[in-house]
Amino acid sequence: MERPELLKCASMSFVMFCTFAMSFLDIEATTNITPDQSSLLALKAHITHDPHNLLANNWTSSTSICNWVGITCDSQNSRVVVLNLTSMSLTGTIPPHIGNLSFLVQLRLRNNSFHGSLPIELVHLRKLEIFHLGNNSFQGDIPSWLGSLPKFQNLSLSINNFTGSIPPSLGNITTLRILELWNNNLQGNILEEIGNLINLEIFDLYGNQQISGTIPPHIGNLSFLVELHLGNNSFHGSLPVELVHLRRLEVLHLGYNSFQGEIPSWLGSLPKLQILYLHVNTFTGSIPPSLGNITTLRILQLWNNNPQGNIPEEIGNLINLEIFDLYGNQPISGTIPPHIGNLSFLVELCLGNNSFHGSMPVELVHLHRLEVLHLGYNSFQGEIPSWLGLAPCLNFKCYISMLTLSQVLSHLLWEISQH
Ligand SMILES: *[C@@H]1O[C@H](CO)[C@@H](O)[C@H](O)[C@H]1NC(C)=O
Ligand SMILES: *[C@@H]1O[C@H](CO)[C@@H](O)[C@H](O)[C@H]1NC(C)=O
Ligand SMILES: *[C@@H]1O[C@H](CO)[C@@H](O)[C@H](O)[C@H]1NC(C)=O
Ligand SMILES: *[C@@H]1O[C@H](CO)[C@@H](O)[C@H](O)[C@H]1NC(C)=O
Ligand SMILES: *[C@@H]1O[C@H](CO)[C@@H](O)[C@H](O)[C@H]1NC(C)=O
Ligand SMILES: *[C@@H]1O[C@H](CO)[C@@H](O)[C@H](O)[C@H]1NC(C)=O
Ligand SMILES: *[C@@H]1O[C@H](CO)[C@@H](O)[C@H](O)[C@H]1NC(C)=O
Ligand SMILES: *[C@@H]1O[C@H](CO)[C@@H](O)[C@H](O)[C@H]1NC(C)=O
Ligand SMILES: *[C@@H]1O[C@H](CO)[C@@H](O)[C@H](O)[C@H]1NC(C)=O
Ligand SMILES: *[C@@H]1O[C@H](CO)[C@@H](O)[C@H](O)[C@H]1NC(C)=O
Ligand SMILES: *[C@@H]1O[C@H](CO)[C@@H](O)[C@H](O)[C@H]1NC(C)=O
Ligand SMILES: *[C@@H]1O[C@H](CO)[C@@H](O)[C@H](O)[C@H]1NC(C)=O
Repeated sequence: MERPELLKCASMSFVMFCTFAMSFLDIEATTNITPDQSSLLALKAHITHDPHNLLANNWTSSTSICNWVGITCDSQNSRVVVLNLTSMSLTGTIPPHIGNLSFLVQLRLRNNSFHGSLPIELVHLRKLEIFHLGNNSFQGDIPSWLGSLPKFQNLSLSINNFTGSIPPSLGNITTLRILELWNNNLQGNILEEIGNLINLEIFDLYGNQQISGTIPPHIGNLSFLVELHLGNNSFHGSLPVELVHLRRLEVLHLGYNSFQGEIPSWLGSLPKLQILYLHVNTFTGSIPPSLGNITTLRILQLWNNNPQGNIPEEIGNLINLEIFDLYGNQPISGTIPPHIGNLSFLVELCLGNNSFHGSMPVELVHLHRLEVLHLGYNSFQGEIPSWLGLAPCLNFKCYISMLTLSQVLSHLLWEISQH
C-alpha cells in the first residue's frame, strides 16, 4: 500500500524538478546568446553594405533567430538548417564562425557582392547539401577541403573570380548532383577523378576560357549526366567515344574551343540530346548522317568549323529542330536537300558563307515558323522564288540574304507590293 504513494511522490518531485529545469533553460535561452546566434551575428558584423537594411533591421536579439529573414530552423532543436541570403544586395565576407552552424544543410548566398576567400572552418559543416555562391566576387583557389564534405549535392560557384585549377578532391564527393563552376578564371585540366562522381547530373565549366587539355574518357562513366557544358574554354583533341554512354544527355555544349577531328557519328546514338553546340572549333570530316537519328534535337550549332561534303538528307528526320546553323563552314557544299522542308518547327536556318549552289528547294515553303533565313555568301543560282512571299515570317525582320544586293532589293520591293 505504501508503494503507490511513494511512486506518486517520486513522480511529483520529478515533475517539479522538470518544471524548474525547463524554466531555467528558458531563462538561459532568452538571456544567453546561443552558438548559432553568435555565428549569425558574426556574419552580420562582416556585412559592410546592406543597402536595404534587411539584416540591420531584422537580425536583432529581440526575436528568435528562427524568425530572422533568410533563416530556417530545425523544428525539433531550433538549430539553423537553411541560411538563404539570395539576392539581398549584400556586400561582405564569410566569417569563420559560419563553420559553427553545425546543423546547416543549405548555404545560399547567390547574387550578392560577397568577396574574399572561403574560410577553412566551413569544413565543419558536415550536413551541408546545398552550397550556392554564384554571382558574387569570391576569389582565390577552390579549396580542396570542399572534397571532404560528405553530403554535398549541389555545388555552385559560378560567376565569381575563383582561380587555380579544379581540385581533384572534388572527385570524393560521390553524392554530387550539380557542379557549376562557369564564368570563373579557372585553368588546368579536367582530372580523371571526375569519373567518380557517378550521381552527377549537371557539370558546367563554361566561360573559364583557360581550362585546357582533352576531355577525359572517364566522363563516360557519369551515366546520370543530363548537361555537359565545356564551352568557351581552351580544350583540344577529339571527342572520346566513351561519351556515347551518356544515355541521359540532353545538352552537350562544346562551342568556342579548339576541338579537332571528325564530327563523331556516334553522336547520333545519344537518344535524348536536345541541344548540340559544336560551333567555333576545328571539326573536320563530313556531317554524319547519323545525326538524323536524334529526333529529340532542337538546336544544332555547327558554325565556324571545317567539315566538308553535303548536308545529309537524314537531317530532314530532325522533326523537332528549331535552329540549324551551319554558317561559315566554308568547304560545305552541294545543294539544299528538299528534306529540310520537313522541319516544320524550324525558326532559324543559317547556311551563309559556305559553298552551296543550286536553287532554293520549293519545299522550304513549308517552314511556317521560319524567322531567320540566311543564305548569303554562297553560289546559289536562279531567281528568288516568289513562294517565299507565302512564308508567314516574311517581313522586314526576316533576314534573307542571297546572291546580289539588287536581287534582295527587288525582292523586298516585291514584298512591299504584296502588303
Ligand atoms: C524579419 O523578417 C521576417 C521574414 O521576412 C519577418 O517574418 C519578421 O517579422 C521580421 N522581424 C522583424 C523584427 O522585423
Ligand atoms: C531563398 O531566398 C530567395 C529570395 O528571398 C527565394 O526566392 C528562394 O525561394 C529561397 N530559397 C530557399 C530554398 O529557401
Ligand atoms: C540579383 O539581385 C539583384 C538585386 O541586387 C536583382 O535586381 C536581380 O533581379 C537578381 N538577379 C537574379 C538572377 O536573381
Ligand atoms: C565559433 O567559431 C569561431 C571561429 O571559427 C571560434 O573562435 C568560436 O570559438 C566559435 N564559437 C562558438 C560559440 O562555438
Ligand atoms: C549578377 O549580379 C548582378 C549585380 O547584382 C546582376 O545585375 C546580374 O543580373 C546578376 N546575374 C545573374 C546571372 O544572376
Ligand atoms: C539540387 O539539384 C537537383 C538537380 O538539378 C535539383 O533537382 C534539386 O532541386 C536541387 N536541390 C535544391 C535543394 O536546390
Ligand atoms: C579577379 O582577380 C584578378 C586577380 O586577382 C583581378 O585582377 C580581377 O580584377 C578580378 N576580377 C573581378 C571581376 O573581380
Ligand atoms: C579525397 O581525394 C584526394 C585526391 O583525389 C585523396 O588523396 C584523398 O585521400 C581523398 N580523401 C578522402 C577523405 O576520401
Ligand atoms: C567567354 O567567357 C568570357 C569570360 O567569362 C566572356 O567575357 C565572354 O563573353 C565569353 N564568350 C562567349 C562567346 O560566351
Ligand atoms: C571509368 O572510365 C574509365 C575510362 O573510360 C575506365 O578505365 C574506368 O574503369 C571507369 N571506372 C568505373 C568505375 O567505371
Ligand atoms: C543511325 O543512323 C545511321 C545512318 O543514318 C543508321 O545507319 C543507323 O542504323 C542509325 N542508328 C540507330 C541506333 O538508329
Ligand atoms: C521529307 O522530305 C522528303 C523530300 O521533300 C520526302 O521525300 C519525304 O517523304 C519527307 N519525309 C517525311 C517523313 O515527311
